[in-house]
Amino acid sequence: MKIKKAVIPVAGLGTRFLPATKAQPKEMLPVVGKPAVQYIVEEAVQAGIESIIFVTGKNKKSIEDHFDKSTELERMLEEKGKIAQLKEVQSISSMANIYYIRQKEPLGLGHAVLCAKQFIGDDPFAVLLGDDIMISKPPAIKQMMNVYERTGVPIVGVQQVPLADVSKYGIINPSNKKDDVYHIHDLIEKPDLEQAPSNLAILGRYILNPSIFPILETIERGAGNEIQLTDGLRHVCKKDGLMAIELQGNRYDIGDQLGYTKAIAEIGLQRPELRSKLLTYFDQLLKNEYQKKELIK
Ligand code: G1P
Repeated sequence: MKIKKAVIPVAGLGTRFLPATKAQPKEMLPVVGKPAVQYIVEEAVQAGIESIIFVTGKNKKSIEDHFDKSTELERMLEEKGKIAQLKEVQSISSMANIYYIRQKEPLGLGHAVLCAKQFIGDDPFAVLLGDDIMISKPPAIKQMMNVYERTGVPIVGVQQVPLADVSKYGIINPSNKKDDVYHIHDLIEKPDLEQAPSNLAILGRYILNPSIFPILETIERGAGNEIQLTDGLRHVCKKDGLMAIELQGNRYDIGDQLGYTKAIAEIGLQRPELRSKLLTYFDQLLKNEYQKKELIK
């Protein structure tokens, strides 16, 4: 069955990005000319998603404005003959059917997904988290859809992370692997290094079906006293099975400052109009750094 619906939770407060997120959502922080959340929506749309629901919270109105039609701006660009920008602005508001629902309390990712229950109805659906920008061909969520369409089994996207980072993620305990696809034996949210069953971390990509909702309605609060999606998925795993695919492509964890800065550098390098100037700049920057080191010695 084709996946046509996606849930994008954007209710997080962005405390790791203060003060930048004091008056604007972290999802709207620019990554080379586009807000971060636009990369996520584009990935979903390129994979064939037609309808998206944002699970929002306080101070997220600019996300709605960004994906809305802006009549005044469009008129102004048209009058000034700025046709390329006009087309770009128009394409943003017509990418997909976009819906919004408020997560009234910050009760965690599992609770955010549960807020989309009515919208999802009986269909399988994708979940994409805004902290992970994935640049890949085919799009990361499409790689997962291809496996789901073959197997009908819910699936999470994973990549290997340094052992020092396992406590930041949901970590899977994989059993047998075929091609890039694992069956999951169990999974655990943000384990200590000693408890981690592997270094395969769940990135913010999931294909689920509505059987997750009754589970999320009844599970106890987990890590951080929140309703954790990973805990819900443990039940799915035990009951109906759960798979993981090791995603091909570059992933940028823009939820932390280093990841965000790397995303800007690398996505900048992928832009033909910026590439050679940036390379010259990085080259000079490195030479300066080496020179400084020599002087210190
Ligand atoms: C969430 C999930 C975690 C996953 C991560 C990916 O954590 O709970 O399992 O590995 O996203 O980015 P968060 O980053 O919201 O703390």
